[in-house]
Amino acid sequence: MSFTNADPVKPASTAGARSLKGQVLVTRRVQFCAAHRLHNPAMPDEWNIEQYGVCNHKHWHGHNYTLEVSVLGEPDPQTGFTLNLTTLKKLLNEVIVSRCDHKNFNRDVDFMNGIIPSTENLVIAIWNQLEPHIKQGKLYSVRLHETDNNYAEYRGGTGF
Ligand code: NI
Repeated sequence: MSFTNADPVKPASTAGARSLKGQVLVTRRVQFCAAHRLHNPAMPDEWNIEQYGVCNHKHWHGHNYTLEVSVLGEPDPQTGFTLNLTTLKKLLNEVIVSRCDHKNFNRDVDFMNGIIPSTENLVIAIWNQLEPHIKQGKLYSVRLHETDNNYAEYRGGTGF
């Protein structure tokens, strides 16, 4: 079946603003590129190489990160949205992507200052940056893919 502009609009009585009850998880995905080096200066070089492998090499290297942020809440009766994903997209761009994209986590990103930029530490730090800005629903998870095969996820505190 196909619809054209000539199709009559359904009467309002079948498409009103009635809402349904239920908690719905919505997720926005964004991507950015950033450099890092995993290195614990308190430990000897051999230990760092053993722990971090290629992520400890003497030179910086980059990853194409994919960040997925999920918010849980009941759809707003007026909009039908848990939260507006365009609002979340703007927030992620302002609070995270603009500060991380094409940056070096060890040197350029203020909220990672002095922190080993492992994916685990990154998801906690990103959560801490985002959480105060989520005004509708509750931040549920921050998942960061460092490669196609590796990701870390944080749900706040001990939230598993
Ligand atoms: Ni790495």
